[in-house]
Amino acid sequence: MAYLQATAIGHPNIALVKYWGNRDDLLRLPSNGSISMNLDGLYARTQVAFQPGLSQDTLVLNGREETGKALTRMASFLDLVRRLANTNFYAQVSSENNFPTGAGLASSAAAYAALSLAAAHALGLSLDEAELSRLARRGSGSACRSITGGFVEWLPGADDYSSFAVSIAPPTHWDLVDCIAIVEPQPKATGSTEGHRMAITSPLQSARVADAPRRLNICRKAILERDFDALAAITELDSNLMHAVMMTSSPPLFYWQPPSLHLMKEIPDWRNHGLPVCYTLDAGPNVHVLCLGDAAVQVKGRLEEYPGVFKVLTSKPGGPAYLE
Ligand code: PMV
Repeated sequence: MAYLQATAIGHPNIALVKYWGNRDDLLRLPSNGSISMNLDGLYARTQVAFQPGLSQDTLVLNGREETGKALTRMASFLDLVRRLANTNFYAQVSSENNFPTGAGLASSAAAYAALSLAAAHALGLSLDEAELSRLARRGSGSACRSITGGFVEWLPGADDYSSFAVSIAPPTHWDLVDCIAIVEPQPKATGSTEGHRMAITSPLQSARVADAPRRLNICRKAILERDFDALAAITELDSNLMHAVMMTSSPPLFYWQPPSLHLMKEIPDWRNHGLPVCYTLDAGPNVHVLCLGDAAVQVKGRLEEYPGVFKVLTSKPGGPAYLE
């Protein structure tokens, strides 16, 4: 049978200045810009096959057939791609992560970046990087940052056309390592799509958003100048601000587990004692511990011994999504 298929790899990314809350939920236009680093070594591998004669899209995620929300979300996303390519073929999609899914490790960013690239290629669309980033954004906001490589800024834009991500420095620019302390491998209770909708219910969100351009400037400059102390200060502040919004939403969202908080209290002490290290947490309890490459072995060793941490993944700055 004739069919159109492609496979792509997408890396997750860790946000240093976070995206939390949308101006437009449907278009996933963010309330503020964000900056992230792609994570090398961790990836989603997504295979798409459009075929005439299928009666609906299907999704196999890490070997398991999905039928609920995950499938509906993916099918709506594929509708966008079908509209662009002017086709009505449904697709069989299969995606695998080599890291825990749904535990605040940006699995949806990696998967939707890979799916955007694979689906566009399978249907013969030739989209440039900005167009792919815009498309990926519709699947999962942070996925727009996983299309391009290295250190990436999502320009919030004013509308669908102007909201996409650009690389501000390649992966080789700075030898940083993200040591991810896994304290809980289970999928989170409240996913980010729902969390973004709730952000506006926090009285702190407007202050967080209003101050975002300042944080973005500091973060961008710290990256471009490879100034670790400046990066550490702004990264920890931004993570704390986002979690303050989460904890003061209605209903409140508490993503941390006790070991997350213990590490958040301890890591600045490690830094004050000379170790170039800082923390940031996405919508989950796992702690991303960023450090300079020279310190990575020591930081990983400390985290592995830490009570409540049962695994540490390490990742250098990663490249863009690519076709296999
Ligand atoms: O792209 P989403 O809807 O999974 O949202 C990502 C939200 C955070 O990971 C918490 C922050 C970010 O900027 O990646």
